[in-house]
Amino acid sequence: MVEYETIEHDVLIIGAGGAGLRAAIEASAAGVSVGLVCKSLLGKAHTVMAEGGMAAALANVDERDSWRTHFADTMRGGYYINNWRMAELHARQAPDRVRELEAWGAVFDRTPEGRIMQRNFGGHAHPRLAHVGDRTGLEMIRTLQDHGVHQGIDVHMECTVTRLLKEGSRCTGAFAYERELGKFKLFRAKAIVMATGGIGRAYKITSNSWEYTGDGHSLAWHAGADLIDMEFVQFHPTGMVWPPSVRGILVTEGVRGEGGILKNNKGERFMFGDIPDNYKSSTADTPEEGWRYVAKSDRDARRPPELLTRDHVARCILREVREGRGSPHGGAFLDIAWISEKIPNAAEHIKKKLPSMYHQFKELAGIDITKEPMEVGPTTHYVMGGIRVDGETQMSSVPGLFAAGECAAGLHGANRLGGNSLSDLIVFGKLAGEYAAKYARDNGNVDVPQAEVDEAHREALAPLDDSRAHDAGGAYQIQYDLQELMQDKVGIIRQEEELLAAIGAIETLKKRAETVSAPGNRQYNPGWHTALDLKNLLTVSEAVARSAVIRKESRGAHSREDYKDKDEQFSHVNTLLRKGPSGEMQVSQESIPEMPAELLQIIEDHK
Ligand code: FUM
Repeated sequence: MVEYETIEHDVLIIGAGGAGLRAAIEASAAGVSVGLVCKSLLGKAHTVMAEGGMAAALANVDERDSWRTHFADTMRGGYYINNWRMAELHARQAPDRVRELEAWGAVFDRTPEGRIMQRNFGGHAHPRLAHVGDRTGLEMIRTLQDHGVHQGIDVHMECTVTRLLKEGSRCTGAFAYERELGKFKLFRAKAIVMATGGIGRAYKITSNSWEYTGDGHSLAWHAGADLIDMEFVQFHPTGMVWPPSVRGILVTEGVRGEGGILKNNKGERFMFGDIPDNYKSSTADTPEEGWRYVAKSDRDARRPPELLTRDHVARCILREVREGRGSPHGGAFLDIAWISEKIPNAAEHIKKKLPSMYHQFKELAGIDITKEPMEVGPTTHYVMGGIRVDGETQMSSVPGLFAAGECAAGLHGANRLGGNSLSDLIVFGKLAGEYAAKYARDNGNVDVPQAEVDEAHREALAPLDDSRAHDAGGAYQIQYDLQELMQDKVGIIRQEEELLAAIGAIETLKKRAETVSAPGNRQYNPGWHTALDLKNLLTVSEAVARSAVIRKESRGAHSREDYKDKDEQFSHVNTLLRKGPSGEMQVSQESIPEMPAELLQIIEDHK
């Protein structure tokens, strides 16, 4: 009999990035006991990789901005398959959430009048991103942590959840292990909030760090929750491409927001060559006009094409590379140094507005971005799909299980606008915390059946069983093989044959993972951790590939070589993944509820 510690909370929050912290603060303020579990150390979350800012229609820099414009931009950026109620709540509530952060001590860059400064980002009609240099996510985490530590939240660091536990249909607990010593923990809770972030580690080139193995998506799926829109994986157009050891590290969109331009190896600003019809009226025809917009000197100027949406910019870079016009290491050139032609003291300006980028390139690539262009290329950054939640309460299809932030789906539709993730975290983190606390209060005591705990135990210990066959290379090799597969066959441009081949290969990898052994014991055993992560990685990879097969069109972040255009029959549906009778992944399409006339009108008014 292996021992475990039992811990009880009214609300358990899994994940301590922006969404988890904000949910914890809200639930705690509602007077319930709160536990916060995080896989690594507090403060180390992918939230910090949203560097350029948080989108909120504060209208500090352009007084014409409003929640309505933000709503319309988010829907257009998401190709109208967003959960419109979430997009509305997000646009309406983001400004208050940002001001609240400010009241809690967040530092922001300022306008000359002393208001929170806002910068341009792709797909946003106005300068809308509240920011502090290029360290906005970091500042958000710092502020939420500082505020949260005074709220009586119990934090369980370096603790990985391996299974959600249920009493009947309701989620009532989670089984976890401490990473350092391998001790097991049983959490019992009246409500659980998933806030685990994304799935980037399913791909070879990613901005995500090691923690992002799709845990929340997968845990919720295995507990019976529906997932939606998993085909929509965002490839941020600008990750580092050189040297190889840093490939994938994020180069913030803030560089383009501050005037950075993209060029190919012929010195052409290739983004001018391909402007989608639905952005033609708002995108500049000439570099001069685009610059006027960035320089904020002319409100009627149109945006530079580098500030088109991420899905489009990523595809354009890929096209340049494929057609032989890429940079030496397979990317494009991103040049911010050129602004010295336009403004005095440009080097100081760049260092002030983009300090992390300056140091990142100087230290990791030996490039001075105030003088030379960067080499950049697409990197897996974010997944729009995830746990299906109720737009108001954030509860999933499993009673008692809530989700917020990247692991929840709906807000961003087929493509997320940069900056909408930080605001997503604080808007929906708050709502998830509020409703989870209410659910915990309204729904009395809970139990976790022993059979559930025993099964979780068995599963967690399985890779340590010495009698298992040793897969050459073990868990690391399986993860590596999966990352190669996803990058090659389920990447930026997809096609049926390759997707089906990927699904077949994932089945084979699953069999290898089911019997993989991790030599050693539970103490300090990263091989065991990786073996346990495989189930999540394989689950989310299968979800992405299966969803990508069924959407036979190109929309947003999902591009099909064999179905190059948008197709009306997919314009009003989400892709739904639901468990079949023997636990298999069943894929279908679900109609999106009709949008209220008032919201339709807003979209119409902003076309
Ligand atoms: O480019 C960036 O700074 C990333 C922001 C985001 O993903 O929202």
